[in-house]
Amino acid sequence: MNPFIRKAKADAAWHHVGLASSFPDLESAADGARIASSCKAFNVPRADGICEPEPPAEADLDLPGDLKDQVLVFKYKGSFHAIDHSCPHSSFPLSQGSLFDIEDFGIVLSAGLTCPKHGWSFDIFSGRSDRGNYKLKVWEVQLREPASIDEKTEPGDMEVWVRRKQRMGIKRPLTPGIDNSILARGQITTMATLMKDPGETSLAKLLATLTTTLHPGTYVFATLAESAPLPPLSEIQLLFRESEGITVITSREYATTQKMDYFFPCKMITLNVTSSLEAVGFMAVLATRLATANMGVNPVSGFYHDHLFVPLGREEEAVQILGQVAEEKRREAAGGA
Ligand code: FES
Repeated sequence: MNPFIRKAKADAAWHHVGLASSFPDLESAADGARIASSCKAFNVPRADGICEPEPPAEADLDLPGDLKDQVLVFKYKGSFHAIDHSCPHSSFPLSQGSLFDIEDFGIVLSAGLTCPKHGWSFDIFSGRSDRGNYKLKVWEVQLREPASIDEKTEPGDMEVWVRRKQRMGIKRPLTPGIDNSILARGQITTMATLMKDPGETSLAKLLATLTTTLHPGTYVFATLAESAPLPPLSEIQLLFRESEGITVITSREYATTQKMDYFFPCKMITLNVTSSLEAVGFMAVLATRLATANMGVNPVSGFYHDHLFVPLGREEEAVQILGQVAEEKRREAAGGA
């Protein structure tokens, strides 16, 4: 018996929730984009089956009723998303929430949804919350060619299908109309393991418990051609490959003895909290505060800690500013307790 082939399990059904053109694209992330203008909610009771023949009933967003089995579907910046309608914190309808871009240093990393009831936010790709271990359930979405075309179907329009996310490690049932050829040919034989990130994700906790270590060495940034010999591992603080070349952070002593061209002599400050790689906004808060002192900073995230490379000669000032941020957050936490 092949242990990976199982009968289709409950909740494996895909549900047709309408044509793509019936979902307005919410583009503007400026100043809290309300999701209500863009989304629809559907009642999807749990049931056996692979492909439901009838589309699920659409819920009234003003009077949504029991949120327990409702999915919220919307289009944000060109991508379709489907999530539980009910806020995992305290069951408030997330159709009342606002969408925003999750950014770090001006780079959009993901998208989030803020529930207005208590202000918690959730990453709409991973479901992660900015507080505690609450996780929003994110559904799978597929766009399919329409099964039939009538006069109401715009050319190029697609059908939007959703289903509850399936557990990893169980072979998914073959779905009519979908290319399951990779699974069917059995080409996936081994899987990498997605480890649980041990880091803290709560921004308030990260900031309030922050302490720093200022390292004594002086570091520099340099760039190497692909074909150039790399420094020995003991001399490499960071190595990062880009299409233009390889960036190295190494000690100034090493760069000087090797007659390397280097930039940005700096000091390294380690942030002594174990931040999750998915922690939202931590570095942005610190970099913004340093920027108010007109201090440029180059942050690097390792698996366990974040590190700041600050201009040589301003390291004590940077440590002091970071200490002030932590102290303010501790006071805020004590005041709110
Ligand atoms: S109910 Fe959504 S944040 Fe509390």
